[in-house]
Amino acid sequence: MNSKKINCLKGDDEINNIEFIVATDLHYISPKADVEGELIEICQAKGDLKQMKYSSQIIDALIDEVIKHKPNGGLIICGDLTYNGEMVSHVDLMKKLQRIIDKGINIYVVPGNHDIKNYNAYKYKGAQRIPIKSVSPKMFKQIYYDCGYKKAIYKDEHSISYIAKISDDLWLAMLDTNLYQNNNWKNPVAIKGELSDSTYEWLEEHLKEAKEKDIKVIAVTHHSLVDHNDLLNKGYTLEDNQRLVELYAKYDVILNLSGHLHIQHIKPGYSKTVKNRKIYDIATSSLVVCRNQYAVLKYEPQKSIYYKTRILDVSRWAFEKGILDNNLLHFNYYSYNYAYSQTYKKIYFELLRRNLSEYEAKMMSSTLSKLNPAFFSGTVVEIYRIIEVSDNYKVWSLVSDIFYHKYIDSIMKEKKYDHNTLRLSLREDDGSFGDVIWNKK
Ligand SMILES: [Fe+2]
Repeated sequence: MNSKKINCLKGDDEINNIEFIVATDLHYISPKADVEGELIEICQAKGDLKQMKYSSQIIDALIDEVIKHKPNGGLIICGDLTYNGEMVSHVDLMKKLQRIIDKGINIYVVPGNHDIKNYNAYKYKGAQRIPIKSVSPKMFKQIYYDCGYKKAIYKDEHSISYIAKISDDLWLAMLDTNLYQNNNWKNPVAIKGELSDSTYEWLEEHLKEAKEKDIKVIAVTHHSLVDHNDLLNKGYTLEDNQRLVELYAKYDVILNLSGHLHIQHIKPGYSKTVKNRKIYDIATSSLVVCRNQYAVLKYEPQKSIYYKTRILDVSRWAFEKGILDNNLLHFNYYSYNYAYSQTYKKIYFELLRRNLSEYEAKMMSSTLSKLNPAFFSGTVVEIYRIIEVSDNYKVWSLVSDIFYHKYIDSIMKEKKYDHNTLRLSLREDDGSFGDVIWNKK
């Protein structure tokens, strides 16, 4: 067999390109844990952007999309599969994912900080919140055995990281960056993440092997490789992240896929040891947050890696299923309005406490409520001009000391970038390896 041919594909072995679907932060909760939909009310009341009311349908729509698209590389999930690591949610989610595996499509998962040993795992029933079982790392591996662990060519002994062989010239490094070991009733869920020295050693050994054999590696972590936003980085960016940037740079890893932030954002990390080397981190937005995106990642050997998001077509899915729920049938509209109104109610009452008139508070809330869904879906570039010239935006100068003012500034700062598309060169013959190809078509 030609060494460059894919040995994992089922079907047309003439095609060397490999496609993946990337989705993250599904935050699924089983009806066994959210018995009467109480959690939905709780999330709505606290202004959470996650659409818990429809998370099950959104995930089913994604699964049908994956089956329809049949990506020959498989589905990659960058962690936070469950709401708060409930064992019943993991088990029920796996039952849903099984439909993909039954169609011969591979799945590769890494855990997120919410998934393992989470002391916030509760069963919600009426006014009651009853602690229920979460999962250990060993149980996580067992439940998702068919989602990467079974076919892994290397497994880390010190974490549940693994390496999956996709083809003769492409591996995925699926890294467990979570710090669940120290979770307890007082600190129920660690937000921050890091890789241990032992995992670094394990990873380096295999990245070295990959480089020697001219195998490309795409890495996947739950935590961000770089700071994506001035305010949202503590706990989100991996601790000592430059160490991983340098390791990737040394072994020619040019792309890391992450989740955790729930926003859609692309940013490079810069190596200080390998000249002109950038490593891109793509934070894919949460599937259950407006615009309910996933991404298609295409690996074209010797040529490029291409990443492009798509909006999950929940409306079409609901129509095809004969579902009569109007929110599902007009899901883009519902989803945007949900994000808008959740942001609005969170900010409006805080502004009223600031001695602002009701009129001013309304103007300011409306600006942020438009900007926030755009920030989460990586589309600020599409609306920033309208925001900038609006009177509503100018009113924000009245309260420069408030967190949300800094938040808006941090979003507007990166207004001109497209965070939904990236094409990186894999060509070594012209010296462009690792560079962005600006003609993204
Ligand atoms: Fe998450």
